[in-house]
Amino acid sequence: MTTLPGKPISFWLDSTAETSFPKMENVTVDVAIVGAGITGITAAYLLKKAGKTVALIEAQQIAASASGHTTAKVTSLHQLIYADLIDKIGENKARLYGESNQAGVEFVASIVEQEGIDCDFQRNDTYSFAENKDNLDKVKQEYDAAVKLGLPAEFVTETTLPFEIAGAVKFNNQAQFHVRKYLLYLANTIPGEGSYVFEDSRVQSVTEGNPCKISANNTTLQATDVLLTTHLPIMDQGLFFAKTYPQRSYIIGAKIDRAKAPEGMYIGVGKNYHSIRTTPTEDGGLLLLIGGGGHKVGSKSETEESYLELERYAHSHFGIDKIDYRWSSQDYKSFDRLPYIGKLTPGNEHIYVATGFSLWGMSKGTMAGMLLSDLILDQKNSWADLYDSLRATPFVTQESIKNNLDVGIHWVGDRFKGIQDWSTDDVKPGEGKIITLKGEKVGVYKDEMGRVTAVNATCPHLACIVNWNSAEKSWDCPCHGGRFTCEGKVIQGPPVKDLELKSI
Ligand code: FES
Repeated sequence: MTTLPGKPISFWLDSTAETSFPKMENVTVDVAIVGAGITGITAAYLLKKAGKTVALIEAQQIAASASGHTTAKVTSLHQLIYADLIDKIGENKARLYGESNQAGVEFVASIVEQEGIDCDFQRNDTYSFAENKDNLDKVKQEYDAAVKLGLPAEFVTETTLPFEIAGAVKFNNQAQFHVRKYLLYLANTIPGEGSYVFEDSRVQSVTEGNPCKISANNTTLQATDVLLTTHLPIMDQGLFFAKTYPQRSYIIGAKIDRAKAPEGMYIGVGKNYHSIRTTPTEDGGLLLLIGGGGHKVGSKSETEESYLELERYAHSHFGIDKIDYRWSSQDYKSFDRLPYIGKLTPGNEHIYVATGFSLWGMSKGTMAGMLLSDLILDQKNSWADLYDSLRATPFVTQESIKNNLDVGIHWVGDRFKGIQDWSTDDVKPGEGKIITLKGEKVGVYKDEMGRVTAVNATCPHLACIVNWNSAEKSWDCPCHGGRFTCEGKVIQGPPVKDLELKSI
């Protein structure tokens, strides 16, 4: 069995206290917000300030899922996007994309200042860098595009990274923070005066009406409007699961001497790129965060290699020998690279969604919270049309065709996978495998003590067969990114039901 480096927990979670908000109660509010990550919490904060009563409802712990596993860079520089957007949607829309994400950065900065939030907030520059000449042209094109759009860009060939680069586009005066310290502060302003934060309350259904009804834990909450800010909407009607695809990535954290630490936040371009930043620790030190190893959810079973590659990179590029943390993250990419923010369906009056942040959730999640709040308050917002969730969807991009084809292939092809005549010896301790038992696909996990847990391997969302993820010890669905613990409990994604336990 491979020994992985570092403590298997996100630094953001490890360095903040657990929260303990109550379970959902039978109350009535103006706005129910399902999903307490950066979008939901930002919207709840703004709506309460505007005089609405809100209920923020989280399936597990607030600010602990996608928002608790990010690199927490707050920037409008999204690796390489502006040249592509100008090409695909034109200069005016590309400019709005830049302005809205820059507004997300400035919103965080102004709230931190106004509220005096202690969250390691720091203004910093961000860089998209080409390590060698292969990708230099793309970086230069991105710089030209950003300048054309009025964004705070420079082209540089020198950085404080401890290795040479061919060139980088740099955005000045962006920001980084401790995402959970920031979000927990905002969330703590919500309870009271008819508003609530609920945890450990997985919403099973939302019914639109006057009022809307939200069910979780055998309780029903009523609300005039509902925001689904669950990463990917838990309701299928808007088909957002088919307009996006799920991507996993990996992060390690390692103590680094201040003298050797780079200033700024970085992301490489091209294949096998890495994301780099530092963050202060409680003992006065500095933790270097390195991310990378991205792949589609469920497309890879031996995920340990992703962490080992990051460990090798930390050693070869920063001289680091000891890794302190490791964690992984998941996000949904939209095919036109724009998030979907707005109504769930055309016939829908009261249910709103935000999804498809395509790996840049800090600026886009904040911006989505601002936009959702404006939509509820009936305030004009100049980004609404660009991100309209009901816009014509580019189902026919090369990527969308390939992705939806992949989903079909998994749906059909995975039914032929699985060991037929198996014995418990086929599964090693610490390992999970799909077996076929009386024609049914079963996920079998054997823990280190040799105890076997078996689950129905058919995903309760739309019936794809889950795959084993060895580094996270989870069952991951290759179709739309639903993930489950080795005991079958839902971790994330569109499924709202657990995998059924089987006795074998
Ligand atoms: S997440 Fe959609 S079928 Fe599993």
